[in-house]
Amino acid sequence: MDIDPNEHRSQSGFPVDQPLEALKADHAFVKQLFERYTTTQDMKVKQEAGPRILELLEMHTSLEETVFYPAVHQIDASLIDHSEQEHQEAKQLIDQLKSMQVGSAQYDQMMVQLRDAIMQHVQSEEQKLFPEVQQSGMDLAQLGIQMQAYEASMVSDQARASDKRAH
Ligand SMILES: [Fe+2]
Repeated sequence: MDIDPNEHRSQSGFPVDQPLEALKADHAFVKQLFERYTTTQDMKVKQEAGPRILELLEMHTSLEETVFYPAVHQIDASLIDHSEQEHQEAKQLIDQLKSMQVGSAQYDQMMVQLRDAIMQHVQSEEQKLFPEVQQSGMDLAQLGIQMQAYEASMVSDQARASDKRAH
């Protein structure tokens, strides 16, 4: 089993005219991966899914923090206070998980903690932040172009890094 952290984009690429849908697709995909991780006893599946979850979340938080939140910040800074705080909490858990052994009891426990934190973040973004952004009159087409470009640069950095590892 090989899980590409970008497989949810590979069908149609980044939905440039619907950037909020891209973020929702990340949310849905990471939810699936969490489910895969937390419902299996198979160490192979855990070793595959665990690091992918962390990788996908790092890309997702980077995309949001570098492009999406600054754009929202220009419209209304108060909208993202809550999301930024949730990201800080998630990042601490991700950093700790990265230094732990995948599939250990401690790792499994912290993965559940991370899942709960992320699901809460997803709920507050999808039910509160995204509708507010949609109502704000923000230029979503422009945002989509910026997010697509940033994601493409992250993906090529990643490819270059794994290329280096392979040589
Ligand atoms: Fe998010």
